Amino acid sequence: MNWLEEVKRVFNGISSGKEEELRAAIRELKCTPLQIGPHVTEPKDLPYGRNVIHRTDQVEAIVIYLPPLQSTFIHDHGKSVGCAYIVQGTMVNTIYKPNDRGKAEFLYEYRLNAGECFYAGPGQVHAMRNPSNKPLITFHLYSPPLQKANRYEAEWVLDFVI
Ligand SMILES: [Fe+2]
Repeated sequence: MNWLEEVKRVFNGISSGKEEELRAAIRELKCTPLQIGPHVTEPKDLPYGRNVIHRTDQVEAIVIYLPPLQSTFIHDHGKSVGCAYIVQGTMVNTIYKPNDRGKAEFLYEYRLNAGECFYAGPGQVHAMRNPSNKPLITFHLYSPPLQKANRYEAEWVLDFVI
């Protein structure tokens, strides 16, 4: 069975879309740079390459390629939750909180390395950044499929004067 068939088999078995189920599905695939390589796409309209490789009523699987020093926009995932696996490279995940003006306020950030996985729960607002000069490839699983995700502007908080 080729890797894409394996992706379909594992992801089509998802029923609840809960965090543990998404994490287990993404770990079961043991996605390697060699397997995902043919599905990596160069950036076109976005600062990163984005390739939807599988989509059903229940789940959506996307391969993201962030070139060196690039970031995604600050965004949420609409009504979806998601789990992402770092296939290659290093990633900084920055978490924000939307304020009452609809702007994104920085909360915290952390670094993830290849082989690690993170979960984006309901309503989470974040941005992904490649802090290195090497490619970053991540593999994302969303449930239900992404719809009406929102983009945010950062709220710059001035915490000093002069
Ligand atoms: Fe995201």
